[in-house]
Amino acid sequence: LAVLGENVFLPQPVLSAGDYQPFTTPLPVPPLLENLSTDPGTASFSLTAQRGKSRLVKEFLTPTMGYNGNYLGPTIRVRNGQKVHLNVLNKLDQQTTLHWHGLHVPAEFDGGPRQPIAPGTSWQPKFTINQQAATLWYHPHAMGLTGEHVYMGLAGLFYIEDEVADSLAIPKTYGVDDFPLIIQDRRFFQDGTLAYVQSMMDVMHGLIGNILLVNGTEWPVLEVPGGLVRLRLLNGSNSTIYRIGFGDGRRFLQIATDGGFLEQPVGLTEVLLSPGERAEILVDFSGDTKGNGPGLVVDQLPGGRHEAMRFQVGPAPSTSFALPEKLVTLDWLQEKDAVQTRTFSMETFSQSGPLAINGKHMDMNRIDEKVKLGTTEIWEISNLSTGMMQMPHSMHLHDVQFQVLDRNGQPPEPQERGRKDTVLILPGEKVRIIARFEDYTGIYMYHCHLLEHEDRGMMGQFEVVE
Ligand code: C2O
Ligand code: CU
Repeated sequence: LAVLGENVFLPQPVLSAGDYQPFTTPLPVPPLLENLSTDPGTASFSLTAQRGKSRLVKEFLTPTMGYNGNYLGPTIRVRNGQKVHLNVLNKLDQQTTLHWHGLHVPAEFDGGPRQPIAPGTSWQPKFTINQQAATLWYHPHAMGLTGEHVYMGLAGLFYIEDEVADSLAIPKTYGVDDFPLIIQDRRFFQDGTLAYVQSMMDVMHGLIGNILLVNGTEWPVLEVPGGLVRLRLLNGSNSTIYRIGFGDGRRFLQIATDGGFLEQPVGLTEVLLSPGERAEILVDFSGDTKGNGPGLVVDQLPGGRHEAMRFQVGPAPSTSFALPEKLVTLDWLQEKDAVQTRTFSMETFSQSGPLAINGKHMDMNRIDEKVKLGTTEIWEISNLSTGMMQMPHSMHLHDVQFQVLDRNGQPPEPQERGRKDTVLILPGEKVRIIARFEDYTGIYMYHCHLLEHEDRGMMGQFEVVE
């Protein structure tokens, strides 16, 4: 019923998709994390990485990991300009880290592999939010363990709000007309335990699952008001690319990319998200009959086509929103201001073995690129590896939000003309991005966000220097 296609990337035996009544479990919305500070200028949060058990599919209680809970974590919401203090406790039996994906923070608080948190210890990052409203997320990033930790459930959302977001007449009430949808695919053994990497195939293709979870639930249903609704989509999967749309093919508006609002909404019938990417969309449910609603259809690339969840339309909201024509004015980086162009080759196979960038595998003791503080650079990223296996890759940079200049020499699609921190690079593509490296010096990562690739060394370090 809900699985419309076949997934060929499955070892046997794995659990097949649920055989119970779909679209009856209400979509869980992660709670907003309580701000422990009484000073309005500061937000103070506490997160604990822990093991737990969750009912993800069927009747199984699957061993999982979560933040302050069993699977996934609470949503952190802060404002631009706010000071943020966090206490991150590692209650796992392994080292972990906590990275703020998309956040512009000092290198020492970035939470990449250079800031491990040993089991039983805690880490206290502090930073001031210094960027516009956006839907970011957090996840662990320990050397060689990122994929497994995320797969087990460690991830959460990190919202930044600001005056511009406040002033827009769009839905913004969390869990009422503004919902996060964390989309992940998972694969389970017959006993309901998660079947993480089992073979070299899983590493090369990345872990592709046959069961789609939204906010950690298979086939949920969400009751939405019969009006305009904002959905914040995160591709929180390890390695699967998704094409996401609605069962009835309805049009919606994309209003934001990874790093915040687009200049104006873009009308679409589907969004393409590689692992780590986000899109905010506005969907109009005012024409739907009460009690009914479309499904969210997720095409896995590679993999199957799933009706991942369903919407059930409730009464019309009391506030109606006018569709905005203009959202923000973005500050465009100019190609002529770039002081240099660096080239990166994402290599499925290289001289030095599989999954490399510029022929190299991640080495914590090597700085791959030195970037001067306050300068603008162009990074030209290509995926030109040939041979029997051509893989898409997804390039993510820490520290910055960049802009896509062109894709194979062509200007980016309107929905990619915004602030980005992760960009899909398909086989045969060459993508040029431009970024300004400002405010903070120190060592940051760039890597493929297909987490099985990243863990196998498809990552490098850049150092921002005075
Ligand atoms: Cu989303 Cu380096 O990570
Ligand atoms: Cu990759």
